[in-house]
This record gives sequence, structure tokens and C-alpha cells, in this order.
Amino acid sequence: MSEIKKIGILTSGGDCSGLNVAISGVVKAATLKGWTVYGIHNGTEGLTETPLSYEVLTLQNFSDTPWAKTAGSYLGSLNKGIKADQLDAVADRFGQGVRQLGLDAVIVLGGDGSMNVLKYYCTRAGIKMIGIPKTIDNDTPLTDFSIGFETACQVCMDAVDSINWTARSHHRAMIIEMMGRDAGHLALHAALAGGADVCLIPEIPYTLDGIIAKLEAVKATGRTHAVIVVSEGIKTEKGEVLSAAKNLVGEKVHGGIGDYLTALLNENYKGFQIRCTRLGHIQRSGHPVFADRMMASVFAAKAVELLDEGKTNVMVGLKQGEITAFSLEDVVAAGTKGVDVKNDYIKAAKLLGMYIGEL
Ligand code: F6P
Repeated sequence: MSEIKKIGILTSGGDCSGLNVAISGVVKAATLKGWTVYGIHNGTEGLTETPLSYEVLTLQNFSDTPWAKTAGSYLGSLNKGIKADQLDAVADRFGQGVRQLGLDAVIVLGGDGSMNVLKYYCTRAGIKMIGIPKTIDNDTPLTDFSIGFETACQVCMDAVDSINWTARSHHRAMIIEMMGRDAGHLALHAALAGGADVCLIPEIPYTLDGIIAKLEAVKATGRTHAVIVVSEGIKTEKGEVLSAAKNLVGEKVHGGIGDYLTALLNENYKGFQIRCTRLGHIQRSGHPVFADRMMASVFAAKAVELLDEGKTNVMVGLKQGEITAFSLEDVVAAGTKGVDVKNDYIKAAKLLGMYIGEL
């Protein structure tokens, strides 16, 4: 048995479906051990701001409401980068916050960026940390899957299905832009499951001619509509980065390559009228599907078990069907997990006749 009596839990980075299942799972498992769980509001902000923002979580928070089965984060999250020159100051405030609440450890639900930053804060402040991977991008390294990915795949596949009907009515080729800043997992999985004709992901270069050749091949079969899935992280056909636009308050916002490609195709190809739909933040929501609820539950239980065994500085994860734990050192060193272009999904896409770029 460990010396743990009080733990904190926070969600960091972009939200996704399944977070509340994981939070309630941690509360259930920790409460059974007699621990008190502090839910930290809005990512790290709840511990770095004055006054601190948190609430003590009990089984009541989740048992008599449908909260656990909803999308979003019950605790709120924070998706803002920290400037390198502010890192130490924020880490110190984080450490003070943890000490003020008397927390013995912190459980962090986050993606690759959050694991990196939180590991830094916790190491600097001497705090025990267990990570639980979550992101619709599925780009957290070492684990095969992260919480939220499967639900996002469902949302994106449903979008491909929906777009097909209007594409068919108007005999158009419809571009659907999906999230996945640096990695194409979401676009690739949704395109495969939805049966798209073209799928472009950041890991594979493509040509305009390649897309047009596929659209012509579709027409040759007698079909008068097509669906093109693009991941927001792809470059232009010349390999240039379409710089992230700034919104009205100057924040960088991702996406836009779908509109760029639409204009380019409409200009250079008259075989189909092209329209674009950017799915946007709807991809981060959706009723958590079975796989995410399952993963969130077992990851939560594993995180509490690891803390109870005195472990720290690890991230739980899934490797070939097994629930396991990776050292945070290794997670951070591995960086972002992109699509392995030699994997079976890419092979399947090609075998199914999808244009996925120039491999
Ligand atoms: O990391 C998840 C993600 O959903 C990315 O795919 C996307 O680019 C980004 O978050 C958008 O984040 P936000 O609009 O919340 O800053």
C-alpha cells in the first residue's frame, strides 16, 4: 500500500469524448482506496491561478447525473501553448498549487504536448505524475490508442456518409477536411471506414494530377459523385506549409487546406464541381463510443493501481491489446506519433483503390 491520501486530476489540451468516463473511473477507484480526489479546473490553470480553482470530486458528482457518459470535460480544459521563457515560472506556480492543496500525486489526461509540459512541471516541482493518453488525433506516442480517437472516427465516418448523399444529388466531388494537426490517423481511419475515394494525410505527399486521375477513374465507372477526405495538417501539392491562419484575436487556428484545394481543383479540373466542408470542433464531441468508454475505464483503474503501487512518471497505454504503462521519459522522447506509411491501413487503402498520395 502507498502513502497516497489525496490526488489531483486534470484534463489538458483539446477535449474529446471519454474524458468524463476516465475522470469518474479515477474517482471510483480512488474513493475505494480511501483517497480524496481533487478535480482541478481548466487544465493546469486551476493550480496556477489565484485563487486556485478546483472541487473535491465524489461518487455523487457522477452517479446521479449522466455526466460520465457525455462528451467534453467536466473539469474544463486548456489548449494554449506556454512560451519557453515562462515555463519555469508556471511550473513553480503549479508546484505551489499542488503543495497548497496537499496533493500526493497528479493524474493528467492529455496528449503528447500535455505529457511533455506536465512532466516538466512535475519533475521540477517533485510531484508524482501518472498520465492517461487522450486525443482525437491519436498521435500520443507509444500507446496504440488514446481516449477520444474512436468516437472522433465515428463522427468523421458519419460525416462521410452524410456528405455522400448531397454529393450524389449534385454530382459533385466533396472535400471533407478533418482535424489531426500533425498526424493523419483520424482522416485515414474515417476515409477507410467511410469508403472515400481520396484520402490525403500529412505523412504522404500528393499531386493534383493524382487526385484528378482518381476522380476521372470514378467517372469512368459511371459514378457521378466522389468524396475526398483531407487531413488539416497536409501541405500544398508543392510541399509548402499553408500557414495556420490567425483569428480575430490573433490566435493561430489550424485548418484551411480543404478550401485551398477546393479552389485549386475548381480552377484546374472541370470534371466535377467541388465543394468543401470543414468538420471543425464537432469532431471533438459525440457520444463516447464503446471503445472509448472501455479504454477510459481501464486506463483510469490502471492509473490508480499504479499510484497505489508507488509508481510515478509513467503514462498508461494500450499495446497490442494489453493495458500497460510507459515511462514518461520514453513518451516525451518519442515525440508525436504519425501514421506509419508501411502500416496495414495504408496497404488496405491502396488495395481498395483509394488515392492516398504518392507512395
Ligand atoms: O489536438 C487536437 C486538435 O483537435 C487538433 O486536431 C486541432 O488542430 C486542434 O486540436 C484545435 O485546437 P483548438 O481549436 O482547441 O485550439
